[in-house]
Amino acid sequence: MEPVIQIENLSFTYANATQHVLCDINLTLKPGEIVVVAGATGSGKSTLLNCIAGIAPTHIGGTLTGTIHCQGQDIETWNVCQRSHRIGTLLQNVETQIFTDNVYDEVVFGLENLATPTQRIPALTQAILQEFDLQAQTDRPIARLSAGQKQRLIIACVLAMGQPALLLDEPFAYLDQTTSHLLLNLLKQRAAQGQAILIVEHRLDLVQTICDRTLHIHQTHLHPGPPTLAAPLPSSPTPPLPSSPIPLSPLLQTNSLTLYPYPSYSDITLYSGETVLLKGDNGSGKTTLLRMISGLVKPTAGSIELLECSIARKRIVEIAQTVGFVLQNPNHQLFADTVQQEVQQPGILASTADRILVQLNLKERAEQHPQSLSQGQKRRLALGAVLARQPRLCLLDEITIGQDTQSLQLMLNLLQTFTRSGGTLLLTSHDPAVAKALNAKIMEVGEKGR
Ligand SMILES: Nc1ncnc2c1ncn2[C@@H]1O[C@H](COP(=O)(O)OP(=O)(O)OP(=O)(O)O)[C@@H](O)[C@H]1O
Ligand SMILES: [Mg+2]
Repeated sequence: MEPVIQIENLSFTYANATQHVLCDINLTLKPGEIVVVAGATGSGKSTLLNCIAGIAPTHIGGTLTGTIHCQGQDIETWNVCQRSHRIGTLLQNVETQIFTDNVYDEVVFGLENLATPTQRIPALTQAILQEFDLQAQTDRPIARLSAGQKQRLIIACVLAMGQPALLLDEPFAYLDQTTSHLLLNLLKQRAAQGQAILIVEHRLDLVQTICDRTLHIHQTHLHPGPPTLAAPLPSSPTPPLPSSPIPLSPLLQTNSLTLYPYPSYSDITLYSGETVLLKGDNGSGKTTLLRMISGLVKPTAGSIELLECSIARKRIVEIAQTVGFVLQNPNHQLFADTVQQEVQQPGILASTADRILVQLNLKERAEQHPQSLSQGQKRRLALGAVLARQPRLCLLDEITIGQDTQSLQLMLNLLQTFTRSGGTLLLTSHDPAVAKALNAKIMEVGEKGR
């Protein structure tokens, strides 16, 4: 059977970099095959997909050597548009591939670009929206979807096009459990119909039921099989508890918080040193709750008290002295010119910034531009930058997504150190291992808790 994708001796180097990020990659993807690529954060998984999709080097610079064939044809001279007729791509940061304002138009946009006959478009669009349980959102502005709903929509758009090859970069990252299972089943069906699927994913237990082969990138090379697990890192030494007695009054208290037209949230009471995990399906209102507590969104009813003071009349900068917020999409909060400057903001000692960068395994990248980091590295940096300011309460929105075992452990160590020294965490995560490691109390958001 002719391979859908055949890569031979592919090497790639970013512009201004001295070393290859990918070296001598050989990969064959046959019709009906599902292949998973794993590897540490920053190992080059997204770069590999970008090389196949034509984004690297054409749009992001760099040098590519070796060949990529698609259904027997050398695609070196094909641009992204030409490649997209045969290759469907889901980028890791789905926000970069949203082109229209509303859900229905977004699906139509992809089909129109593939010159799908006009009369077939409405039926195809309805069918895929139904398959992904997005009918209720059909006319909704995309800007009002949750991150999980956006990811679900963009996957739907990609699957609607039905190209022979699919490249999916962490498609499960923001999905709740039900939607993840739905997607696993859909991918299995698509492979049975002949599509060849390449998935980047760290959680091999999630995808192993559907994948035919697992590969991993390590030190620029593609190897067969799953990555060998890194030895668990020792957790950081427990710092002494603060000498002042733990206050008996809560750090945070919410009362009947409501954002019209949605139902009220259950009340939250948080004390110093506590960790609470907000649990709920995609679109259940977790991020909205965090945004209200950070002052970014004003509730239509109810109140939020920080250190027994209502935040209703406080400015965001005042709230930010007590509350740090690590956003779901790290691209929205990295502003500095270098990784070092991102953490070492005014008022923060160089030694503190250095310690945090070392703890997050980013010290080697101190002089790099934050936007040139991989998604996983960006998430660690955003966390480090917020913790460097020593907030009393830290809000974390799905920040452990896409971390390999070792990087996840680094993040968890830092968070444990934070709570042991009296810091408080309110977080969202679809990963049960995170709640367990942080010994978090669970609070339901959504139908059960809202
Ligand atoms: N535009 C760029 N310019 C320079 N270096 C880059 C650029 N994009 C990525 N890199 C570097 O290339 C390496 C591989 O990045 P890539 O995004 O492919 O990793 P990844 O395996 O997908 O990681 P993650 O699991 O975090 O998504 C990283 O070290 C990253 O810092
Ligand atoms: Mg990546």
